[in-house]
Amino acid sequence: MRILITGAAGRLGRRLARQLADAHDLQTTDVVVGADVTVDLTDFDACRRLMRECAPEIVLHAAAWTDVDGCALDPQRALSVNGLATAHLAALTSSGGIPILYISSNEVFDGALGQPYSEYDRPNPLNPYGYSKWYGERAITQVNPRHYIVRTAWLFAHGGSNFIQAILAAARAGKALRVVTNEVANPTYANDLASAIAQLIESDRYGIYHLVNEGAVSRWGFARSILDYAGCAETPIERISRHEWQRPSLPPEQTAMANVAGASLGIRLRPWQEALRAFLDAEGAN
Ligand SMILES: NC(=O)c1ccc[n+]([C@@H]2O[C@H](COP(=O)([O-])OP(=O)(O)OC[C@H]3O[C@@H](n4cnc5c(N)ncnc54)[C@H](OP(=O)(O)O)[C@@H]3O)[C@@H](O)[C@H]2O)c1
Repeated sequence: MRILITGAAGRLGRRLARQLADAHDLQTTDVVVGADVTVDLTDFDACRRLMRECAPEIVLHAAAWTDVDGCALDPQRALSVNGLATAHLAALTSSGGIPILYISSNEVFDGALGQPYSEYDRPNPLNPYGYSKWYGERAITQVNPRHYIVRTAWLFAHGGSNFIQAILAAARAGKALRVVTNEVANPTYANDLASAIAQLIESDRYGIYHLVNEGAVSRWGFARSILDYAGCAETPIERISRHEWQRPSLPPEQTAMANVAGASLGIRLRPWQEALRAFLDAEGAN
């Protein structure tokens, strides 16, 4: 299958490209090893040229502005990169009769449900990043019926920066750690998500999916597990509330997601604790 991956230099995009490279013909929009196209997806004409040149049979749209605090400080740019660019790709794939898979986020939910969100619960984003991702979802669902919306959360991947590396680096530098207890979601390993996506795109079962490692945890609980598994069980972590962690974007409180639709197709991700151990093993961190 000829696949166009956007955001192929990002955490998920890099892994997706590796996962799919052996089995498929790949085109990517970021400069990565083996890729040859760089395109600003907010530019409609550039998107149109890209689609013409790549002639994909499916688009995996992983590009986004993922700086949640940056999005809060510049909501217009967030809407342009995460919403408008997605609308461009929705229109171009739809007119070409091509399926599109869009990566969305747990932050489309307000966190007030009191139980894990299924694919059929109603989004109600609280912050500009969440709103821009939801805008992208609606652009796709309203324009291209051949869509997969894949919501995920708290991605960790090899290379680049993420929560795990930040916690380990702070602990090893002897810094005092303060982590939020009342922000809860599903930590998700990019490798597991990429495998799940590879399965999903073979299904032709369009719709909304929650592809996250199973189980949810608070930021504090996640940090505790990271340090315990990495041999830093003695390092203390102060518990704080999300209001004590001053930042431009207030995250939703409880956005645990349940994988109902994917599981019905036999697509399941292992528990986050197993995924975290596998990640740390591969990093040589424990
Ligand atoms: N990271 C998470 O915890 C998380 C959680 C839930 C959902 N998601 C979603 O998962 C997807 C992948 O996230 P990620 O963490 O892999 O993202 P990432 O590492 O930040 O990578 C995003 C990629 O998108 C590219 N990009 C940004 N603006 C662009 C534009 N205008 N045109 C073309 N490319 C552009 C970036 O290129 P530059 O670096 O050159 O800007 C980067 O390569 C995103 O849709 C994100 O919203 C992520």
